[in-house]
Amino acid sequence: MAKVLIAPSILSADFARLGEEVRAIEAAGADLVHVDVMDGHFVPNITIGPMVVKALKPHATIPLDVHLMITPVDPFVDAYVEAGAGIITFHPEAGPHPHRTIQTIRKAGAKAGMSLNPGTPIAAIEALIEDLDLVLVMSVNPGFGGQKFIDTQLRKIEVLRKRIDATGRDIILEVDGGVTAANAAQVISAGATALVAGTAVFGDGPEKYAANIARLRGA
Ligand code: DX5
Ligand code: ZN
Repeated sequence: MAKVLIAPSILSADFARLGEEVRAIEAAGADLVHVDVMDGHFVPNITIGPMVVKALKPHATIPLDVHLMITPVDPFVDAYVEAGAGIITFHPEAGPHPHRTIQTIRKAGAKAGMSLNPGTPIAAIEALIEDLDLVLVMSVNPGFGGQKFIDTQLRKIEVLRKRIDATGRDIILEVDGGVTAANAAQVISAGATALVAGTAVFGDGPEKYAANIARLRGA
């Protein structure tokens, strides 16, 4: 089995030292930098604009995994890709033309992902799965770090694993929200190939980042 990718969410990093934090997680073994973008109306919080992503880009050699919890998406895709996003993930509820959004992301030069909220069925992306590079299962309601993993989403991960395998394509199955060392093994055995973790990586300060990442990976 391929190595599970670990994507620390900088939502839980020290925002006054973001460049340093990104360098620290990369040095600690992170595979992706997960950037949670929130707009205050798709989700009840406001976070990171393209200018911040651009400022972070020189601090990372691993890809920036940008999770857009915003609506609309299309007018902002170019700005995030130009800023340095390697992967752009959006939610099907963000607009009526998700296939066009995927095309817009690809045309801009990034990989395309779609994300399912806990209450969003797989059917919302079923018709587009073959066009995606990544599927992101939200295991908390998006908006904040530090929430509890919603166990019912394990079943969704299992079903998606089978759907993805049936495509024969190398699509990342990423899980986001409440992932900890205590449940990571379960999430991986359900079929996840990438784990997002905010609190579980950044919780105890920089000297713990490497151990936290290794624990999530199951080392
Ligand atoms: C929630 C975000 C997540 C979250 C992860 O809206 O998409 O990335 O911050 O943080 P933890 O791991 O603390 O749940
Ligand atoms: Zn996220």
